[in-house]
Amino acid sequence: MTQIYARIVGTGSALPERVLTNADLEKFVDTSDEWIRERTGIRQRHVAAEGETTGDLSTLAAQRALDAAGVKASELDLIVLGTTTPDIIFPSTACLVQHRLGANGCAAFDVNAACSGFVYALGVADKFIRSGQSKKVLVIGAETLTRMVRWEERETCVLFGDGAGAVVLEASSEPGIYATCLHADGGYKELLWNPVGVSVGFKDDEPNHGVRIRMAGREVFKVAVKTLDSLVEETLKAAGMEASQLDWLIPHQANLRIIEATAKRLNMPMEQVIVTVDKHANTSAGSVPLALDFAVRSGKVKRGQNLLLEAFGGGFTWASALLRY
Ligand code: COA
Repeated sequence: MTQIYARIVGTGSALPERVLTNADLEKFVDTSDEWIRERTGIRQRHVAAEGETTGDLSTLAAQRALDAAGVKASELDLIVLGTTTPDIIFPSTACLVQHRLGANGCAAFDVNAACSGFVYALGVADKFIRSGQSKKVLVIGAETLTRMVRWEERETCVLFGDGAGAVVLEASSEPGIYATCLHADGGYKELLWNPVGVSVGFKDDEPNHGVRIRMAGREVFKVAVKTLDSLVEETLKAAGMEASQLDWLIPHQANLRIIEATAKRLNMPMEQVIVTVDKHANTSAGSVPLALDFAVRSGKVKRGQNLLLEAFGGGFTWASALLRY
């Protein structure tokens, strides 16, 4: 039997219009452009306008990916959307986007794996295609993370931004996604979380009902670097490849120093690493597909090249995909 692969046939992305630079932040938070740039590599982030939602950004990114692929929404048989900031509690944002695209009838669901959401969604979609269940799948990673940010908390507010990215996958006899690796360890939940919700309740005596990101930055940094080191090794092994066969590393865009550490581990020069954290900051599930679309549209990533995608986030969750573009 011929092996079925999931191939990326189109990419797209969307960012809110409003840009907030580090200099803008300096005006209302006790921080500095220099501190933010040196610690994280971030220079600016996009911030959703009032009323602009994860679903809005997702729909735009998805339409661009469908156009690039030359695929009609009605041809899709599955939509998987990674997000931790859904528009509403239910229906899922994937369902909202499905209807707006006109893909009514296909399976559609969200995946909440925080910053690893897109790579998790890609891993799920890959399995649907490999099993023969689906032929054309839309995978989206999207967030309006600034809705969970308290602008007076300098430890977190400088780090995050909003945005969405999407890919269309098609079943093919040509590679394709070679391997995906997905992991989680809920034992680390308190290092990066937003511990309010429908079931445990909200905090009505706190601003925004207690909805805000809490993070132990230094600890997250240490675990992320160590975990990503072993993740990239595991992924190469799963795909039966050497690091020297990789053309591009497309990492989660949280922090330039974490990205540099992973590149070093792979012996890859920074010229082979896609970096958008300076322009987008950390857009959680949006970050990897935004970076991928940027890399494709700028002409950096070309057909036939091998890409290693990886992400790390709240949960903790961590995930990777090694694919031929
Ligand atoms: N501007 C200026 N100073 C700030 C600041 C800001 N935005 N945020 C924190 N500081 C201060 C702290 O108060 C502290 O001051 P003190 O020494 O007087 O106590 C000092 O800077 C150092 O803080 P620390 O948290 O130890 O800094 P750090 O070098 O660890 O850098 C992060 C902080 C958040 C940039 C870094 O830990 C990080 O990137 N962690 C990973 C976070 C991440 O990627 N999360 C998402 C994963 S998906």
